[in-house]
Amino acid sequence: MKIVNSIKDLKAYLAEAKQDNKKIGFVPTMGALHNGHLSLVQHCVKNNDVCVVSVFVNPTQFNDKHDLETYPRTLEADCVLLSSAASDVYKRQVLLESAGCDYVFAPSVEEMYPEPDTRTFDLGTVSEVMEGAKRPGHFNGVAQVVSKLFYIVEPDNAYFGEKDFQQIAVIRAMVKQLNIPVTINACPIVREGDGLALSSRNTRLTPEQRQKAPLIARTLKESTTFVPGKSVQEVIDYVVNTINSDPVMEVEYYEIVDGNTLESIKNWSDTDYPVGCITVYCGEVRLIDNIKY
Ligand code: PAF
Repeated sequence: MKIVNSIKDLKAYLAEAKQDNKKIGFVPTMGALHNGHLSLVQHCVKNNDVCVVSVFVNPTQFNDKHDLETYPRTLEADCVLLSSAASDVYKRQVLLESAGCDYVFAPSVEEMYPEPDTRTFDLGTVSEVMEGAKRPGHFNGVAQVVSKLFYIVEPDNAYFGEKDFQQIAVIRAMVKQLNIPVTINACPIVREGDGLALSSRNTRLTPEQRQKAPLIARTLKESTTFVPGKSVQEVIDYVVNTINSDPVMEVEYYEIVDGNTLESIKNWSDTDYPVGCITVYCGEVRLIDNIKY
């Protein structure tokens, strides 16, 4: 596994692979890797000849300076994890020629943004609702960095976790708008044994908050058993009230949307793909999760 810091070097390595008609898979991350990321790497390794993982804390997608400053940066530990993911996959997929993460792309901010990125994306509803409304500029920053990364890596396949359900919709819209020839693969949420969705932010939870946080996933799961008996609004009220009944938790929003358009639904019959998307403050830590009904 090679760790590459410059765009030029990465492009040179990948040009060779492309010449040999190798399929390039790509997992963009902001580091602080956990098993959720590793499952993306495993999907990537299994379905491509070359696996590239980027580790870059992208400043343009943070609308909160404190959040950017305190975002965990653990490149060394990330690289150890990535090589062990490789050998783990190798053990189980011995027939695969490419047996793990081949390149970790870890550029500096100056390398990615030698000049400020002033591009503004208009990606419609998918980028405006929920996270888009609560974190102005966030998805514009995600579109900036992911489009740049796609131009650099030119992957055949890219892998994203469904925990960030809205982010996947935004990236699909961006790729469509810019005609970037990459297939976006959505991979299932990876959860702790008690249901908490894996997130780099979980490390910021105090022991008490960590103990309480599974209430989010538990409540979402429970709420699926009320469908279609209860109305959409009744299910929303149940989820919000149950989670808010814990003094450590505060729901920022809970919306049930059409999983393709991300428009809120009023009735279950409005879509055949209803998804509930939630953001909860557990103390100061902002956790997100979602569930399919
Ligand atoms: O999901 C993330 O970690 C980031 O938003 C991404 C896609 C790596 C872009 O910085």
